[in-house]
Amino acid sequence: MDKLIIEGGAKLKGEVTVSGAKNAVLPILAATLLTDEPCLIKNVPNLRDTNSMLKLLRSLGKSAEFDKGKVMVSKGRETNYIAEYKLVSTMRASFCVLGPLLGKLRRAKVSLPGGCVIGARPVDLHLKGVKALGADINIDAGYVEAKAKRLHGAYLYLGGVYGSSVLATDNVMMAAVLADGKTVIESAACEPEVVDLAEFLIKMGAKIKGQGTPIIEIEGVKHLRGAIHSIIPDRIEAGTLILASLITGGDILIKNVQIRHLGALIDKLDEAGAHLGHSDGALRVKGNRRLKAVNITTLPYPGFPTDMQAQMMSLMSVTRGISVITEKIYPDRFMHVSELNRMGAHIQREGPHAIVEGTKSLSGAPVMASDLRASACLVLAGLAARGKTSISRIYHLERGYENIEKKLINLGAKVWREKE
Ligand code: EPZ
Repeated sequence: MDKLIIEGGAKLKGEVTVSGAKNAVLPILAATLLTDEPCLIKNVPNLRDTNSMLKLLRSLGKSAEFDKGKVMVSKGRETNYIAEYKLVSTMRASFCVLGPLLGKLRRAKVSLPGGCVIGARPVDLHLKGVKALGADINIDAGYVEAKAKRLHGAYLYLGGVYGSSVLATDNVMMAAVLADGKTVIESAACEPEVVDLAEFLIKMGAKIKGQGTPIIEIEGVKHLRGAIHSIIPDRIEAGTLILASLITGGDILIKNVQIRHLGALIDKLDEAGAHLGHSDGALRVKGNRRLKAVNITTLPYPGFPTDMQAQMMSLMSVTRGISVITEKIYPDRFMHVSELNRMGAHIQREGPHAIVEGTKSLSGAPVMASDLRASACLVLAGLAARGKTSISRIYHLERGYENIEKKLINLGAKVWREKE
């Protein structure tokens, strides 16, 4: 396994282009199971997770070719409705093949994804949703087996104790598009990635309204055709790059950004005194060392994204003042706290809160990545720290950031790989 070495202190300068959104491309690739016709997906990021999903699609009988950011998915050999544990366990998002398999084949057998370091990751809302559409569910030997003689529209409430669910909304939408009649999802997730999936389904011939709002209406159709679609930019990568400029006191131009997807982050950074200039899809981010600490509470979109919480904690670790960071989506998503403290941060965990007392600077240290966004947080901390930081288990980082080393090196960061 490789580790990433970062020599801290360089101010990032120059231009960088954001890749396609991981959390949009995964459900959209799953949606190609809803048709036997070819689908062409563009602006696809070359990530571990993308390739895991392509492997899963091939195991389900699809032919899938990935070349220079474009994926062509078409009918392969005989269709299979079983998503094996060995594939689903490597990537939780694989569970979003449940809805399209059920929609197209009226049958699905999908391994339960299990938990991960950021939380238990239950699927009760997914199962509640497909049951409401008429699926019989049986859980046995770590698999969910779903069958439906007929899928019918339903009116269902999909909110959970932590609010809306992104992938549960995706799964229900992908089962409902081929059901008989009308489905209304109340407390649907509003994330831009859910909207991108809905746009792709509409291009395939689905009848969907309300995507991006808490109430999504779907009128079932008989057949979906192939479609061509370009993935939206990754707002979490964009947010991570914004913080990379701020934490190093840099000056970078971030291209291919949907500013309106970053409202909560930009608002918080404005409150902290970081004024970002934006014009036609590009964002100019000039770091200034006089930022002030702000409090963060993560919420479903359009609230502050949980996927930016760890990265924001890095910035607050070197910002004057006290920042209280409250994690309302995954209350245990704090594996990065101990690693940041090893680098000299002053962070105290209190249940779903982390109290961050900003310090003048961090010191480079050997640290360990635990999950995708925690690894991004450690990269940001390493960029700002005095001396050298080595981050082990960087396969976590490769799951969700396309060519991140190259992008940072092009911005002047001193980053390289070494064997563990
Ligand atoms: C998506 O995961 C994202 N992944 C996550 O990004 C992101 O953190 C999360 O949404 C929240 O925004 C993808 O889109 C592939 P949820 P998802 O269902 O859909 C609870 C990253 O770093 N819940 O919206 O699995 C759940 O435990 C990843 O890119 C239930 O209780 O998350 C959580 O507390 C990490 N029952 C809350 O809802 C369920 O059936 C939101 O989870 C489902 C979820």
